Amino acid sequence: MRTRGAFFLLVAAGVAPLAAQDAAAAPDGAQIFQTVCSACHTVNPPPKAAPPMSHATSFYLQQHQTPEAAAAAIVAYVKQPDSTRSALPAHAIARFGLMPSQAHLTDAQLAAVASYVLTLADTTHRMPMGPPGAP
Ligand code: HEC
Repeated sequence: MRTRGAFFLLVAAGVAPLAAQDAAAAPDGAQIFQTVCSACHTVNPPPKAAPPMSHATSFYLQQHQTPEAAAAAIVAYVKQPDSTRSALPAHAIARFGLMPSQAHLTDAQLAAVASYVLTLADTTHRMPMGPPGAP
């Protein structure tokens, strides 16, 4: 069956190395980004199937007091995307659709990739109207 073949290819290409990582010490956020997230997210514009990661994470840094709080919010969102909790301007979901849940990753993998994607943030990027409470 064609879909089944494609599924096994995906497993061979992506999930198996991630699963193997579990046995090792800490998951590698950069590798998870390359293997999983970069299927939809570029780092910088132009976008693919999702907002560029440097833009998406800049909103989290603007809306949270600490990088740790921003990372926790990213983990919560990517586990269970919900438009009411989106940190992005509304036009992002209107344009790209809601992100599919990444709950297939472990909590440790999600924490590692959230910390990594925050290092990509373009802190000069601002919402056109400015985020709530921003100067
Ligand atoms: C199948 C495509 C796809 C994959 C894979 C994907 N994303 Fe997304 N992501 C999207 C889309 C579409 C949006 C914009 C809509 C939204 O925010 O829900 C988005 C939005 C986001 C946002 C902003 C969320 C918000 O609205 O506040 C973050 C952060 C994010 N992605 C991180 C990740 C990380 C980290 C990974 C890898 C673990 C990942 N994404 C994998 C499609 C994807």
